[in-house]
Amino acid sequence: MQVFSKNDKMVHLVQANHNLLPVIHRFGIRLGFGNKTVEELCFDYEINSDFFLAIVNTFHNKNFFPKDQLLAFSPLLLVDYLKKTHQYYVDYSLPRIEKLIHRLLMSTPKQNSEMQMIEKFYLAYKKKLLEHFDEEEQEVFPIVEKLVLHPDQVADKNFDANFEKEHEHVDFELDDLKNLILKYLVPEYDELICNKLMEEIYHFERDIHDHSRMEDAILIPQMTQLLRAAE
Ligand SMILES: [Fe+2]
Ligand SMILES: [Fe+2]
Repeated sequence: MQVFSKNDKMVHLVQANHNLLPVIHRFGIRLGFGNKTVEELCFDYEINSDFFLAIVNTFHNKNFFPKDQLLAFSPLLLVDYLKKTHQYYVDYSLPRIEKLIHRLLMSTPKQNSEMQMIEKFYLAYKKKLLEHFDEEEQEVFPIVEKLVLHPDQVADKNFDANFEKEHEHVDFELDDLKNLILKYLVPEYDELICNKLMEEIYHFERDIHDHSRMEDAILIPQMTQLLRAAE
């Protein structure tokens, strides 16, 4: 297992795993890394380098999850990262998947009901996912922020976040979408578009799985602890 450290060059991280680039962008770090190390760039961008590395290493290694270390960071750091991740999904991942599904559909000479079902299924999935993000951004994240900054102003101390169940749905439905495409796509389609679409879906699946894991295993325990402390 490859675990990056503060003295690694940032270029090396992207060379080792280009999927880390969107994660690095979420921290506001832009390309043009020069020869700078993780520590040097985090210093330039005023980022907590330990938090940055914990997020990057967790994303890079499926089996790396420094739970105690992650729990010890300020929940404000995590909330900020989670919000930026939502933004990336809304601005980039989801529109891209949607466009590719549509182009794939258009690339077949004959449209059948299965093909249309794929697009319909995706649109329903996207709607539910956006509602989920909205609930987190309107209800959950503000409570966490308030609990850290102004705990005395939190009126309802019995807030019960029910994410794990919702996150399971997100996973299942993405799986269903993949299966629909793999099983029911009519054979005459544009291969390039299809490959790009599948690549994008698998990439998104990995990313959102990591995101949900942060919420379930870190944010919720932090929130529970803050609520208890505020009682
Ligand atoms: Fe989220
Ligand atoms: Fe979530």
